[in-house]
Amino acid sequence: NPVIYMDETDSTNIQAKKLGEAGGKHGTLVVSDRQTAGKGRRGRGWESPSGASIYMSILLRPEFLPDKAPMLTLVMALAVAEAVQEVTGEAAGIKWPNDIVLNKKKICGILTEMSAEIDYINHVVIGVGINVNTESFPEEIQKTATSLAIETGKKWKRPDLAAAVMRYFENYYNMFAEAQDLKPLQERYNRLLVNKDREIQVLEPGHEFGGTALGINETGELIVRKADGSIEEIYAGEVSVRG
Ligand code: BTN
Repeated sequence: NPVIYMDETDSTNIQAKKLGEAGGKHGTLVVSDRQTAGKGRRGRGWESPSGASIYMSILLRPEFLPDKAPMLTLVMALAVAEAVQEVTGEAAGIKWPNDIVLNKKKICGILTEMSAEIDYINHVVIGVGINVNTESFPEEIQKTATSLAIETGKKWKRPDLAAAVMRYFENYYNMFAEAQDLKPLQERYNRLLVNKDREIQVLEPGHEFGGTALGINETGELIVRKADGSIEEIYAGEVSVRG
């Protein structure tokens, strides 16, 4: 698959989307050493200094319907967690739906963006930011963010980790695309899910409740058992989860 490397860019997601508009090939990877306008979820920015982290975005042209695309974020989360485990031997976990954590702090964020009609995907871009050798974080995020180097006391080779992520992702993407849901990956995902069997708070606008997270279902919704024994399945787009 084509790989496009840049020393600096605004955002690898922006560049991959441009490539998508220009007819770029399925599976093209855009990688940059630093970003001047790194994007996080919910309109936030993403700190993107040079040298320390992996900033990469993959361009996909899936054949399935647009409503399946959000599940790709979970496919990538699984790939990142397993790649981190393989390369570093550390027990990276997934905080639903798509943060990768180590010792309860975030080491990776994923931002998926799609260009689609109602019944047709033009392209999907999955952006991955992994804090590899970052030595310190800005005050505001110090409590919640960390890097592989901070947690392990060692520096890691970014290309090795990026290659491992893409190897896992290719495999899991093919499994997902064939099944058209997360069923073949559900068990693996749930094994790495740090929220599993834990008490969580679901912060849904106008409807807040607590319960025990049981794992994801085959579409990536989080299955939550409330105190009264009833079950709710929550969709990532609508809610945030604490705990
Ligand atoms: C999050 O808020 O957790 C998602 C962060 C995603 C950051 C990555 S870095 C590579 C790619 N390019 C961007 O501008 N954002 C994503």
